[in-house]
Amino acid sequence: MAEKDSTTEFLKSAEEAAKAILETVKEDGFIQVFSHLDADGVAAAGVIGKALLRLDAKFRIRITQWVDEKIFAEILSEKPQMIILSDFGSGYINLLNDKLSDFKIAVLDHHQIVGEREKPNIIHVNPHSYGIDGARDISGAGVAYFVAKKIDEENVDLAPIAVVGALGDLQDKYDQRKLGGVNEKIVEDGVNAGLLTVERDLIFFGRETRPIHKTLASTTNPFIPGISGEEDKSLAFLASLDIKPKHGERWRALRDLSDDEKKRLCSALADYLLSKGLHIEVTNLIGHVYTLTREEPWTPIRDAREFAVLLNATGRMEKPSLGVSICMGDRGAALEAANKVLEEYRRTINKYLGWVMEKPERMKEMENIYVVYGESFINEKIVGAISSILATSLPNPEKPLIAYANVEEGGLAKFSARTIDIMTNKGVNLGEVMQVAAEKCLGNGGGHNIAAGAQVPIENVDAFIKVVDELVGKQLRGEKVRS
Ligand code: C5P
Ligand code: C5P
Ligand code: ZN
Repeated sequence: MAEKDSTTEFLKSAEEAAKAILETVKEDGFIQVFSHLDADGVAAAGVIGKALLRLDAKFRIRITQWVDEKIFAEILSEKPQMIILSDFGSGYINLLNDKLSDFKIAVLDHHQIVGEREKPNIIHVNPHSYGIDGARDISGAGVAYFVAKKIDEENVDLAPIAVVGALGDLQDKYDQRKLGGVNEKIVEDGVNAGLLTVERDLIFFGRETRPIHKTLASTTNPFIPGISGEEDKSLAFLASLDIKPKHGERWRALRDLSDDEKKRLCSALADYLLSKGLHIEVTNLIGHVYTLTREEPWTPIRDAREFAVLLNATGRMEKPSLGVSICMGDRGAALEAANKVLEEYRRTINKYLGWVMEKPERMKEMENIYVVYGESFINEKIVGAISSILATSLPNPEKPLIAYANVEEGGLAKFSARTIDIMTNKGVNLGEVMQVAAEKCLGNGGGHNIAAGAQVPIENVDAFIKVVDELVGKQLRGEKVRS
């Protein structure tokens, strides 16, 4: 399909979902919304929630980590007139066909579709059905945004939230960390509505809220030896460039630098990298920055990437309703509370990292992988973040890492697997490993080649770890892992 046709077809399916929603609201039906707990899922829920609120609809939103029996039980007892699943659902088509064939359902997702064709009671809006790359070109919040816009053109003001969702899912994979594909249309909508600006600038995280030296020191992508992790040295570095870290009593953030100061910083960083023999081009320090122009300076919701981190924190710290309300336009107390949650999230992650490092038996090295035994100490909703962080700083970075935590109710262990880019070139595909290993151990797994997850019964944890170790070994030797 030509690109234009595929987008047109995709938009038609969004329109179909919009019509079904409008019909349900007209009949005064109750709508249950379920959405994924990461930043993109929370943003998607916010977009749908705002659209429904504007229609004066009867609805309720629940944020969960996956689609499971609990959701089905809730639906069967509440008997809603319509169900909306956003940022997940496409991986569960068979289950939806089996369990919910009596309900009107809209699945608004961008994950790979697993399962047979959906029954006619399901309206399935998914870019993959139209040859659009759901991993890179549109997020769950983006799909929800197009449905919202078909409900009412006024919802175009939700474009920045859809941009936040895409950045939360790390979709800025085009040159200089740009959003591309269908995401670009959403960015255009936001810019045309005067709600968003896009600039090429220094890409360091924290540009709106963090003191400059902290921003530099917290940079790990690219990792700058002598600066990453070293606030004192970052301060000295700024001083050597005659860049004042403070304005009066207040620390300055990257946003406060003049163009001239930015230029100085940029070329000094380039020289510095060169002097360390690092072949990082200065263009790698420059990227596309997405700013929500109507938000207050110095808040974490002005920069779209910081906004995404805030949403992620609310989801993972079991306060997703704060994230959803902020996406729906709530500020004031909700934002203040979300800021506290973000601080708490950072503290929790540091606590977990400290815990892992404290005793050698908490992270073991096997033949082909590392294993972190989070058991009941690490929360299952945060184990993914811990896995992501640890995977970039392993003694042998070429060994994939799997971390797990017990899921309190249900007798399951939640695994998160991560590796680095070069390993995928060497044949490692963690999504496949998780899926095959989980299947062997009566669990459920899948994901991307570089980042994947699984849930398995606790009694099978040791067996699962052993199988994963073997399967990674097989992939490295170029053997097939599916029998
Ligand atoms: O559910 P989903 O696809 O959105 O999960 C994405 C997870 O995988 C995030 O934790 C993200 O950090 C990680 N990821 C990654 N590198 C990628 C893609 C995803 O680390 N290229
Ligand atoms: O939960 P975690 O962040 O480790 O998930 C990494 C990736 O694996 C995500 O994209 C998630 O959607 C996917 N995943 C999956 N099936 C599972 C668990 C995770 O596809 N059972
Ligand atoms: Zn998503």
